[in-house]
Amino acid sequence: MNKDNRVNFGSKLGVILASAGSAVGLGNIWRFPYEAGNNGGAAFILIYLGCVLILGMPIMVGEFIIGRRSRANTAGAYQKLAPGTQWKWVGRLGVLAGFLILSYYSVVAGWTLEFVGEAATNSFVGKTATDFIDTFNAFTGSAWRPMFWAILFLLITHFIITKGVEKGIERSSKIMMPALFVLLLVLAVCSVSLPGAGEGIRFLLKPDFSKVTASVFLSAMGQAFFSLSLGMGCLCTYASYFKKDTHLAKTAFSVGIIDTGVAILAGFIIFPAAFSVGIQPDAGSSLVFITLPNVFQQAFGGVPLLAYLLSVLFYVLLAIAALTSTISLHEVCTAYLHEEFKLTRNRAATLVTGGCMVLGVLCSLSLGVGKGYTLFGLTLFDLFDYVTAKIMLPGGGMFISIFVGWYLDKRLVKDEITNGGTLRVRIYKPIVFVLKYVAPIGIFFIFINEIGLLKMF
Ligand code: PFF
Repeated sequence: MNKDNRVNFGSKLGVILASAGSAVGLGNIWRFPYEAGNNGGAAFILIYLGCVLILGMPIMVGEFIIGRRSRANTAGAYQKLAPGTQWKWVGRLGVLAGFLILSYYSVVAGWTLEFVGEAATNSFVGKTATDFIDTFNAFTGSAWRPMFWAILFLLITHFIITKGVEKGIERSSKIMMPALFVLLLVLAVCSVSLPGAGEGIRFLLKPDFSKVTASVFLSAMGQAFFSLSLGMGCLCTYASYFKKDTHLAKTAFSVGIIDTGVAILAGFIIFPAAFSVGIQPDAGSSLVFITLPNVFQQAFGGVPLLAYLLSVLFYVLLAIAALTSTISLHEVCTAYLHEEFKLTRNRAATLVTGGCMVLGVLCSLSLGVGKGYTLFGLTLFDLFDYVTAKIMLPGGGMFISIFVGWYLDKRLVKDEITNGGTLRVRIYKPIVFVLKYVAPIGIFFIFINEIGLLKMF
């Protein structure tokens, strides 16, 4: 597509909120707590913070550079900036990663709709922790309901995608993100004041480094990429809609801070609550869906109307946070098909939605009736999660940093970071240093350490 008929985000705040809308989602509120829980708590969180700061933010700037400079979808971007080379495969693999993530992410996003229904019909009242566990397992293990919700969620995403970038993506993010943040803050305060919450706080703040292994590093790095929407060209696609005066480094910093803030808040909601009702922190992917209904009951049970309103509001906002992320995943795939294969935007979106529905249904079934079918010991749902978050995204991040750090012309990189020399960006040199050396080498080491070729942990 040429420069002139490509849409832009309307305002600076819109740029930050739409990018943060992509970053903030189930990754922060559902995936972060259970990965932290499975990997020992505070030590994992520290390594995670290191990954966000040292690898995540500079690579995000890298993606922004590729996107804004090329003003194309992620595969087209490499073709424009590195014509005739194989770099386009980094973009194509990114699109594939987006497609796979969208398929299984929609399943969990669908669960949030079921919980909106449960909260709205007052079904949490009078239930114990065991009841919540049983109901959740029965729901996710059944065939039809989760499938129905996943399909509905994809259809809602499809509807917004076909409405276009500015109207659909930007407007919805502007209202919902701040509302979600405020509600999370209220819930965190309630959760830390539950009886027995102290142990949960200790779990979050007292690192036990004896539990740190190679896979804790890989999990923390994978979580950082997943949560920041990094390594698959998602933020690169969004940056292709940025304006010339968008401050790339500041935007990356803001998105990183917002995303990390939400994840930490989620931790302060989930763990104190989990310890308070005696649920193990390594309960896995069900953690949020079991502990939160409990928080509403225990903290506000005395004021039923408040418990009711807050629980409905929470699941609505969680669904919306998931929606701003599914939109961004969908946009990566739709922009690719639309621009590379010259399909209309509607037809491209329909192909993506249809494909994800098929894979999403299979992922959903793999948690219930299809549990017996595994590959490398993982269900399809877990396999998609593992392959994308722990291999494809960090791998993509490694190639992005090599591309920007080594392949692209230094002047082009400087021109993008400083907006043609109009900005003084003091962290320009550290960003380039990370992209050239720290990120490629760091990610490579974490990979080979996990495979066991190198044993450091
Ligand atoms: N960052 C999103 C979340 O934390 O929920 C998930 C995600 C969106 C991952 C977009 C990757 C992506 F490209």
